[in-house]
This record gives sequence, structure tokens and C-alpha cells, in this order.
Amino acid sequence: MSVQKNIANSKSWRDKPICQVPDYPDQKHLETVEKKLRHLPPLVFAGEVRALRRSLADVANGNAFLLQGGDCAESFREFNGNLIRDTFKIILQMAVALTYGSGLPIVKVGRMAGQFAKPRSKPTETKEGVTLPSYRGDIINGYEFTEASRNPNPDNMLHAYHQATATLNLLRAFAHGGFSDLNKLHRWNLDFVSSGQASEKYHKLTDDIAKALEFMKACGVVGDIVPQMREIEFYTSHEALLLWYEEALTRYDSTTSIEDYEGDTVCTSAHMLWIGDRTRQLDGAHVEFCSQIINPIGMKCGPSLTPDELIQLIDKLNPNNEAGRLTLIARFGASQVQDHLPQLVERVKAEGRHVVWSCDPMHGNVETAENGFKTRKFENILSEVEQFFQIHRQLGTYAGGVHFEMTGKNVTECIGGGVHNIATNELAERYDTLCDPRLNGSQALELAFLIAEMLKK
Ligand code: PEP
Ligand code: CO
Repeated sequence: MSVQKNIANSKSWRDKPICQVPDYPDQKHLETVEKKLRHLPPLVFAGEVRALRRSLADVANGNAFLLQGGDCAESFREFNGNLIRDTFKIILQMAVALTYGSGLPIVKVGRMAGQFAKPRSKPTETKEGVTLPSYRGDIINGYEFTEASRNPNPDNMLHAYHQATATLNLLRAFAHGGFSDLNKLHRWNLDFVSSGQASEKYHKLTDDIAKALEFMKACGVVGDIVPQMREIEFYTSHEALLLWYEEALTRYDSTTSIEDYEGDTVCTSAHMLWIGDRTRQLDGAHVEFCSQIINPIGMKCGPSLTPDELIQLIDKLNPNNEAGRLTLIARFGASQVQDHLPQLVERVKAEGRHVVWSCDPMHGNVETAENGFKTRKFENILSEVEQFFQIHRQLGTYAGGVHFEMTGKNVTECIGGGVHNIATNELAERYDTLCDPRLNGSQALELAFLIAEMLKK
């Protein structure tokens, strides 16, 4: 019996208009890399992808909260175990604060192990009269401003795959190898976050939890019996931008194959993938690709999105209206969220669509400081989250999650907040990002405690 093609087609995006991807000059080279990637093992497994969908369905139904965060762009040069550990630690700490505030399970999703490709506002960059292609993330080209570095190189996809593999390996070890044991909560604190209000709150919280754990231990409830006390589920995500890479890592899940159905189509580069605000055209390649895979999909919602368009996109991305399939990530900016979000939420509610609403308070709040640094103000980030919660409260819908660009490194990229209340003239001290400014650990933790307060309401 001949095996028929699945209805899902991981190549169908190739017939659609595509934007925000490089023009690879050497097609043969590209094809060779794609072929190699197709033969490499999957990074994540279908069962994990389905587990995340179930957890996100809990979020959609108001029984859990989503925390998604990590680098704006991962880098080949800045890649080591300590960095992965520190970002992981901050996410765990934020999750503890949020659990405390909400009393709900927190679904933890990193922008990690694959967040390499970046959409850009301009295709080229000019410096001192020289014009070169823009930097598009390490999976595509190099940051250095030379022609050789800025030319897109397909080999970078293989480098990205291997780095993602090593990152994921460590994340799995942290999640399941004892590091995430609730009895070790105090050890998750980072040195540079060990002072200030958020740190005090964190210590108070870990003391309370330690007491509760003592009590439970006395009652015989220990990690051997309840694995959730010893390990966590941690998922990965990135923007599905470079579709040659995503397609090459898309596989059929043979465990679901029956008769002439080859199995569910799973993109194995990450558990969750999202569509960026610049690539969510209804008939475009990125929406098409994501409509073909079973992974949970995120979609950024920015100021240009109309309610009609949103419903059409939901129809395409979640035709069966399944809770957990689609997360709408609102990113309007503190000054614009009131003008745009309510009408979208109202319409989605009126049409009875099951989605997760999450808030990305980063991408609508980018500004250039007077000294030329691209930055974000803590107060604007906080304000957008507050308004997001308020809008959902008013409309009787569920504010299901938050999405941050953050790092465990002690960077000075966003202004205000945290232990040091970073000033504009301090941005230059440790401004390391390859793309957008990130919250440092202490800013991220402070934000988590403030959001925990909102969740309590
Ligand atoms: C991002 O999340 O890094 C990003 C580019 O976001 P957006 O598509 O919302 O601008
Ligand atoms: Co960004």
C-alpha cells in the first residue's frame, strides 16, 4: 500500500509571499544545509508539544498562567552554561513570585534554544557612507559590520541547531536533575539580585515556602512521592521566522500514524513557535507554515491589526477552536494599548474563540534615549501590563500571561526599576544586547512581584 501525503504540508509556505527572510545568493548551498538538517535528530518530541498544548488550554480556561521570557536574540559568541543557568534561574524565581500571587500553576516557556532569527525594520544599514544588509540574527548573518559577515550564510543554521541542542540539554538537566527542587529555592538567587526590595520579598517568600515544605515533610509528603516538588516542566519557544530551518526540522509523529495518515506534523525545533508582528499576513508564508503544524502557536498582535483580520487569522491558525492551540501576544505600547486591545478582546470574546491572551510589554515600548541608546523604560513596561490586566478585568476576560525580553546577566539596557534604578547615563555600562534592550534579573524579578500583586486582585 502506498503511503499518501498528509493533509498537512510543511512545504506549502513556499508558494506564498514571504517577507523578513534573507536572499540566499547560493541556492545549492542552501539546499545542502537543508538536507543535512533534515537528517538531524529532532530537538523536541511530539508528546512534549502536546503536553504544552494541554497546559496552555488550562491557561485559556483561566486555570494557569503563562510566563514566557528570554533573550531578544540568542548569540553564537555569548554562549555558555552560566548564562543559560542564570536566565533559567530568573525565570524560576519569577514563576515562584507569580505562583504566590495567583495561586495558579505557572506554565514556563523560555525564549531559548532557538531564538536566533530577527525581523528588522530596514533591510539595510548605512554607516559612514557604507550600506550593507541589516543584521538578522546569528542564524542568518553576522553582527559585525563587514560585507563578509553581513552576507547571509546557510551554514549558520547548522551552528544554530547545535547550539540549540546544547542549550536544551542543559535546560532539561536543570528542570529534571534536581536543580529545580523546591527545597533549593534560596539557591536560585543571583548575586547581583541579592539586595533591594524584590530580593527581600523573594527571601521572605522562600522562607514561607520552606516552612510549608517542612510541614509537608512532617506529614510524609516528599519529592519521592510528589515529583512536582523536585522537578518542573520547562518549554522552549522562538519566532518561526527562518522557514527553511523550521521546515527542515518538521517531522511526522509516527505514534499517531494510522492507515494512510503518516502522523501529526510537528515542528521539532521548539515546543512553541510564534509569528512576529511583521510577518502575520493572512496569505503570507509564515502564517501558512504555522497553520500546518500541531505545535502551540503564538501570534504577536500590534497596532496595525484590525478585529476582522484577527478573526480571519484565528480561523486559519485555529480552525477547530481548540483551547491551547493559539496564544495572542498583545504588544501595543503603554500609550497605545487602550486604543487597540479592547476592541480585539471584545471581538474574540463575542465570537467565542478560545485563545490565551498574553502581554508582551516590551516591543511597543522601545525608544531611543537622548544618548542614542535603544532602550525601554521600566515604568512603561509596567504600565502596559497594568492596562492589559485592567482591560481584561473590565471585559470579563482572562489575562493569561506575560512575555518578556530578559536575561540573567546584570545588564544595563532598560531604564529604571530593579535594585539599581538604572539611569540614562548608565546605559553604556553593560549594554550587551545584539538587538532589543532586555530586563536584567533584578528588574525582571521586581516586575514579577508587581504582576503577582495584580494577579491577587
Ligand atoms: C520579538 O519578539 O523579538 C519581536 C521582534 O517582536 P514583534 O514581532 O512583536 O515586534
Ligand atoms: Co525583541
